[in-house]
Amino acid sequence: MMNIVITGASKGIGFETALSLAGNSRNHVIALSRDAQGLARLAKAAADKGYNNLSTYPANLLNLTAKDVQDIFAEYKQVDVLVNNAGILINKPFAETTIEDWQSVFNTNLFATVNLVQLLLPYMSHNELSHIVNIGSMGGFTGTSKFNGLSAYSASKAALGNLAETLAEELKEYNIRVNCLALGSVNTSMLQDAFPGYKAPVDSADMAKFIAYFCQQAHHFINGKILPISVTTP
Ligand SMILES: NC(=O)c1ccc[n+]([C@@H]2O[C@H](COP(=O)([O-])OP(=O)(O)OC[C@H]3O[C@@H](n4cnc5c(N)ncnc54)[C@H](OP(=O)(O)O)[C@@H]3O)[C@@H](O)[C@H]2O)c1
Repeated sequence: MMNIVITGASKGIGFETALSLAGNSRNHVIALSRDAQGLARLAKAAADKGYNNLSTYPANLLNLTAKDVQDIFAEYKQVDVLVNNAGILINKPFAETTIEDWQSVFNTNLFATVNLVQLLLPYMSHNELSHIVNIGSMGGFTGTSKFNGLSAYSASKAALGNLAETLAEELKEYNIRVNCLALGSVNTSMLQDAFPGYKAPVDSADMAKFIAYFCQQAHHFINGKILPISVTTP
């Protein structure tokens, strides 16, 4: 049995990835996010498909404590895969952004991820290979097209990618592999905040299948990498 933790599972890419991961009966999926109703929809979608290997926990990653993690993970003992998918986006011209905007984006996209990884490290398996996957963005990938209004978001995603590279080095000795997927555009509510009216060529259910495959298999071949996953952004 592989225990897989995924954050930001109440909607969008995280919702579909959690569902896709639960499609493998050898997985147990532990889905986190704040919106209890969204998590209830996820639990129902899984139950409708006959999956009984998905648990949901409403949690705000911004103030997750060691006690919360103890309560949630006591019954699992071991975590094999962590998908850091939760994220927020602020779409505002750089000159209008406040330091609070920057802090808010970095608090969720980077610092909450750092906190969760630190809290989960004692639970991550060391005997078998385990895998941490950060969900980054093409906006945070060096050399790609950049877009107005996304400076704080893109910078936070660049940091998340760099964190995957450095963590991969530090966690080598524990058999934990770390990668970052720099996603291109996927049809979700976040994409509509970034690019109102734009229809991406990829839907969240399709991207979810790729992420699910990647986080279960890719660590046997890939470590410390930031991979662009895009059919559009140059
Ligand atoms: N869509 C795209 O085109 C695209 C492209 C590149 C990268 N990405 C990345 O892919 C990931 C998923 O994006 P999406 O498009 O699916 O976005 P979304 O539909 O807005 O979903 C974001 C998820 O993050 C969760 N979240 C946000 N703040 C949280 C917090 N403090 N604590 C717990 N959960 C929190 C939200 O859940 P609650 O509100 O319930 O907490 C929600 O489930 C993000 O990291 C995003 O940056 C998306």
